Amino acid sequence: MTGADAAPLRIDVITIFPAYFSVLEVSLLGKARERGLVDVRVHDLRNWTEDVHRTVDDSPYGGGPGMLMRPEPWGKAIDEVAGGAPQEAEGRALDDVAGASSPPRLVIPTPSGRLFTQQDAVAWAQDERLVFAPARYEGIDARVAADASRRMPVEEVSIGDYVLAGGEAAVVVMIEAIARLLPGFMGNAESPVTESFTPDAGGAALLEAPAYTRPASWRGLDVPEVLLSGDHAAVARWREEAARRRTAQYRPDLLD
Ligand code: ADE
Repeated sequence: MTGADAAPLRIDVITIFPAYFSVLEVSLLGKARERGLVDVRVHDLRNWTEDVHRTVDDSPYGGGPGMLMRPEPWGKAIDEVAGGAPQEAEGRALDDVAGASSPPRLVIPTPSGRLFTQQDAVAWAQDERLVFAPARYEGIDARVAADASRRMPVEEVSIGDYVLAGGEAAVVVMIEAIARLLPGFMGNAESPVTESFTPDAGGAALLEAPAYTRPASWRGLDVPEVLLSGDHAAVARWREEAARRRTAQYRPDLLD
């Protein structure tokens, strides 16, 4: 899918904190939603509970601290939002959701997952649909991912080596990383290909070189001369060299 007239990327979020995602209504992402580049729908997980207390958590088998999210509300929510539940595959028409040609990718943020990278953002920006399942408490019963993976691609991903209070912030981070890559999201179509973590022609993924704007001299600090030279080849060489130095300093692992 390319171009702003393509079908919008459909993103569903299932959460016990729908209000958290009001942040997706502001800034460039809010504009992208208004312009029809991305269609974000937020669902309250508690709509799929059946008890009066709308319970979503319980204590873990085997003991241990904290509470886990029970599988039943998640299973029902994912069946309905993602479509394709075994009992629904025949006969009963689902809403427009299940009419999609292939099942959506289910993304479960967790500090126990593999690391989410720019490559994932690039790949997932080309999907038709994404469903995010952020957990609270100590996570979701492991059978939810196992069951969903019988019907759809499931990604258990972490946004970094630290532990958040829940997966909601991780979902916002991933949606922003993905949505900004959609054609038409940013004015400058070239920006996403010349930035940190995007491999260059030689396959190296370097951090971006430092950047400067006017004035050329500020508080006794001068912009590197070559950037004022108008010599595009020299500027490109300087940026490449500066990117290598910066990567060696901050992220030597990227050079390996
Ligand atoms: N939930 C809690 N910590 C997380 C992390 N680092 N990445 C994704 N989801 C999380």
